[in-house]
Amino acid sequence: MKPATEVRRCRTAILISGSGSNLQAFIKQVADGRLPLDIALVVSNRSDAYGLLRAAAASIPTLVISHRDFASRDAFDMALAAELDAAAIELIILAGFMRILSAAFVQHFAGRIMNVHPALLPLYPGLDTHARALDAGDRQHGSTVHFVTEELDGGPRIIAGRIAVRREDTVASLKSRVQAVEHQIYPQAAAWYAEQRLSYRNGEALLDGQLLNEPVVRDFD
Ligand code: GRF
Repeated sequence: MKPATEVRRCRTAILISGSGSNLQAFIKQVADGRLPLDIALVVSNRSDAYGLLRAAAASIPTLVISHRDFASRDAFDMALAAELDAAAIELIILAGFMRILSAAFVQHFAGRIMNVHPALLPLYPGLDTHARALDAGDRQHGSTVHFVTEELDGGPRIIAGRIAVRREDTVASLKSRVQAVEHQIYPQAAAWYAEQRLSYRNGEALLDGQLLNEPVVRDFD
């Protein structure tokens, strides 16, 4: 019998600062054989991030680099970049990493950094997205995966997961519903990247050779 063709796994670092529920979704999909990544490293800027325990439980190497140990943002980012390069990381997944990355860092890894943002970008970049959506009376809300550029939450969008806002929704319920969406759309975007269906070119995202003027949109309950 011929051996099954070895799937090339994209060497990935997942950067966290907190709970790491998105990290957990990635770990599960990789374990299930649905996501061709090699999660080679989990990095946190906080030593108390719960996600570090999730990574350790999955036998993934972890690294804590505290921004408090560095005199400037650039110095922290340079140390982080050196670790990622030393680990030969191809794809960087920001999963609740609460640090703004410097222009030099973003340029060094151009087209190889993704983020998930809990809003239907370009609506509500920045913080407090669920409260802002509720305050505005939005009927739809959700989350967006995008490539990271120097513009905060402004890089080319890849996929958005949309939910209908319910009358009884609160900030807490929206957070929970939106995170459940993230756990599906974020691994999906990474899978496209790993399968070389998704790429970044000159500030734009391409999927299957087509320019994504708008993200792929998926509706969820
Ligand atoms: C996610 O909701 C994501 O949208 C935002 O940070 C949160 C991280 O959650 N960028 P977790 O740490 O993955 O649970």
